Amino acid sequence: MMSPRKDKKEKVKLSKESFQYAKQIFRYIRPYRGIFLIGWIFLILSSFSGLLFPLLMGQLLGSGTESDSSMQGIMNKLSVDDINSFALALFALFALQALFSFFRVVIFTNVTENTLRDVRKDAFERLIYMPMDFFNRNKVGELTSRVASDILQIQETIRTTIAEFFRQLVIVIGGIAFLFYLSWKLALIMLATVPVMAIVAVVFGRFIRKLSKTAQDEAANSNVIIEESLMGITNVKAFTNEKFLIGKYEKAVQYIRDLNIKSGLWRGVFVSFIIFCLFGAIVFIVWQGVLMTQGENPELSTRDFFSFIMYTIMMGASFGSIPDLYASLQKAVGATENLMRIIAEKHERELHAGTLKPVINGEIEFDHVSFTYPQRPDVVVLKDITFKAAQNQKIALVGSSGAGKSTIASLLMDFYAVSDGSIMIDGVSIKDIDLEHLREHLSIVPQEVILFAGTIRENIAFGKLNATEEEIIEAAEKANAWSYISAFPEGLDTQVGDRGIQLSGGQKQRIAIARAILNDPKILILDEATSALDSESEKLVQEALDKLMENRTSVVIAHRLSTIKKADQIIVLENGTISERGTHEELSALNGSYTRFLQLQEL
Ligand SMILES: Nc1ncnc2c1ncn2[C@@H]1O[C@H](COP(=O)(O)OP(=O)(O)OP(=O)(O)O)[C@@H](O)[C@H]1O
Ligand SMILES: [Mg+2]
Repeated sequence: MMSPRKDKKEKVKLSKESFQYAKQIFRYIRPYRGIFLIGWIFLILSSFSGLLFPLLMGQLLGSGTESDSSMQGIMNKLSVDDINSFALALFALFALQALFSFFRVVIFTNVTENTLRDVRKDAFERLIYMPMDFFNRNKVGELTSRVASDILQIQETIRTTIAEFFRQLVIVIGGIAFLFYLSWKLALIMLATVPVMAIVAVVFGRFIRKLSKTAQDEAANSNVIIEESLMGITNVKAFTNEKFLIGKYEKAVQYIRDLNIKSGLWRGVFVSFIIFCLFGAIVFIVWQGVLMTQGENPELSTRDFFSFIMYTIMMGASFGSIPDLYASLQKAVGATENLMRIIAEKHERELHAGTLKPVINGEIEFDHVSFTYPQRPDVVVLKDITFKAAQNQKIALVGSSGAGKSTIASLLMDFYAVSDGSIMIDGVSIKDIDLEHLREHLSIVPQEVILFAGTIRENIAFGKLNATEEEIIEAAEKANAWSYISAFPEGLDTQVGDRGIQLSGGQKQRIAIARAILNDPKILILDEATSALDSESEKLVQEALDKLMENRTSVVIAHRLSTIKKADQIIVLENGTISERGTHEELSALNGSYTRFLQLQEL
């Protein structure tokens, strides 16, 4: 709960930097700049032609009240001087506008969708290549929902907001020009009211934006509660913590409600203020304008007066919408910044410089390795770890929970870089080995197997994407998984995961084993499940593991005495250091920490 609050504060502060990041979106638009430019031409055409509407409409409205034509300027050039011509000109204007707008919308959508496809792809590519540390720092659920909402925001902005903002600006600026052209006196009277509205709009807009941003962030926080509760639903139910979580969520949504209601209140004040000023100004201007049309030799013709009024109304509406559009643009800058920050993060390939692709036989050496998680710099998790596993040896790591066993496995996979010392495979430091090459020769069967939503076939083939049907079946057989898979009516095509059937712990483990068999790594890392299986599946899993460990170097985080006994070398970890090492017989004879460990584990 702490981190989102923290970076929310950071975000309000950053503004120059935000633009620096947000600007990078142009990199994605650039390939489509040609068509985008054409879109802009249509936007400019439609915006400027839109300016003629109040003029023509005013002239048409005014024509009914005047017999003589007092038209000058543009109107004369267009030679529109009777009621029918004004109407026809209006129809022509709308036809043109319809055409321009059609192309503008189509082209802007096109550019947006192309750009976003590239952004989406890049963002995912970045995410998937992020170092593990990144995933420790960011909650996955929060990350995905934030990326999704940022992309929506950007989509809306490129597709409509920018165009709309531009159109309103043209209306306001062009409108002012026409007002002065029609009557500078009346225009000045009108402008006396506009700056007041403008200042209030900007100040108000900023305030409202801040409120709604806070509410948005809080909404993201509250979603985390739902996600975490549902993902850990077994725990929630087992500990009957439903009420506690409901209470927590209720508090969060109440807070969001309060924030949004507060922001709604201010929005209401804002809207009514604008409306009041607008109508007040219109009445005032109408009053002054009507006075000007009176007399023998009026300052202003009735037609021009009507045009003036039409401009005022149109500009008023534009002015009202500008703060919202501006707020939306601001949001888009924030959203783009978020996304570009992710894209700008260094991914694994940039952090890991090694490019060597040596032949890997499977000799492992940890040489005075120390390690601290980047997240927790004050806790040294591994201290001066030195051990060596010859090719095809079985190494068992034992030790109490939190001793650092899984951390050793993570370091071997190069999920994190060591803080000190080095890890070598066949004498080559893993820092210098190409990351993909390294991981291709390593497989991990994790403690908790997580299957992807999809078929059993897909889940096994994850170990080798181009595996044939025969290879998959063979791997499943070796993993002792084939008997239960073939018993399913749909066999390998059985859906597992969220929308499919649920497999038992032992069944899932055997799928993970089949996956590793298919991958055929030189080095196998096995994080033995601590949860006991029933003796039947235990036997099946054990057999499968024994087969899997043949002809490769295995590092087994062992909990079962049977596995430990079979190891060529046992390493006993205590608080991140190696306290004892040797075979089962040697260590048992010592009667030291290994013996204590076995007693504690009741092995
Ligand atoms: N991602 C992480 N960020 C920060 N600290 C971590 C992280 N993962 C583990 N730790 C810490 O490192 C220490 C060693 O953890 P590790 O997971 O290696 O233990 P383990 O020996 O595998 O324990 P277990 O038998 O319970 O799986 C623990 O103190 C743990 O809190
Ligand atoms: Mg562990």
